[in-house]
Amino acid sequence: MKRDFLALSQFSKDELDNLFALTAELKLRQKQGVEHSLLKGKSIALIFEKSSTRTRISFEVGVYQLGGQPLFISSGTSQMGRGEPIKDTARVMARYCDGVMIRTYGQEIVDEFAAYCDKPVINGLTDKFHPCQIMADLFTVMEHKGGYEGLTYAWIGDGNNMANTWIEAAAILGFELRLACPKGYEPDPGVMEWAKGKGAKLLLTTNPKEAVAGADVLNTDVWASMGQEAEQKVREQAFAGYCLDDSLLALAKPDCLVLHCLPAHRGEEISDSVIEGKNSVVWDEAENRLHVQKAIMASLIT
Ligand code: CP
Ligand code: NVA
Repeated sequence: MKRDFLALSQFSKDELDNLFALTAELKLRQKQGVEHSLLKGKSIALIFEKSSTRTRISFEVGVYQLGGQPLFISSGTSQMGRGEPIKDTARVMARYCDGVMIRTYGQEIVDEFAAYCDKPVINGLTDKFHPCQIMADLFTVMEHKGGYEGLTYAWIGDGNNMANTWIEAAAILGFELRLACPKGYEPDPGVMEWAKGKGAKLLLTTNPKEAVAGADVLNTDVWASMGQEAEQKVREQAFAGYCLDDSLLALAKPDCLVLHCLPAHRGEEISDSVIEGKNSVVWDEAENRLHVQKAIMASLIT
């Protein structure tokens, strides 16, 4: 029975911990130059319906480092862009490839793709979730703090795909998560309900100061995600006061970590001084996309 990686909620704490352990092992092997060809002879399709720098490069390089063949497929230059149904594409790709990563819009698209593709499917970002990114974020926290447990996490900004995935992670892994989002830009209510049902320690506020006070990990993201570009101006007004800047940072623990999935808009959701400052671990975070995704692929695509 194949296993997909579409949302963190499909995984238990033990399973995510196992992925982190494999990530650490694969990162070490790569740094030591030890061969780790766990995808030898395998072909992995990487489908993009949205732009990407990190996801594309880290998946392509990751597949290569594992001895496999990455296939970059842009929806715009494939028949997907001309309206070939998802369920047809999914069944055809399963005949050629050993696994598929897809970045697209609705979560229902990856769900449908996975339902029709009998090879493992990995979510490389949808409007609802970005699970590979939060795995990289947590692995980065583990490297810098010795673990992810017992820490307080703050999310400042849009209740978007990143925030929704953090909420799932908080529910599964049991850490405290405080989210500061403007009214009307809250996380997905269904995800909130699900997490609360799991006993997640969540605080949702409109006050960024309340969210960051004494926090160990601060995280933010762009105010207008891919597909929301037309709302940029309206969102700039709605998110005034939500910039992760030095005054907000000063309220968190002095040794807190600052995360940002990138790309960042300096002067909007984060100040240049904070993203370039001593608390920022964003470059480690970006690197760790490579290592966690290798662990995800090596675990699912066997
Ligand atoms: N963080 C992230 O997913 O970056 P890209 O959009 O560049 O892939
Ligand atoms: N929330 C952002 C994340 C980019 C990696 C977006 O969806 O555009």
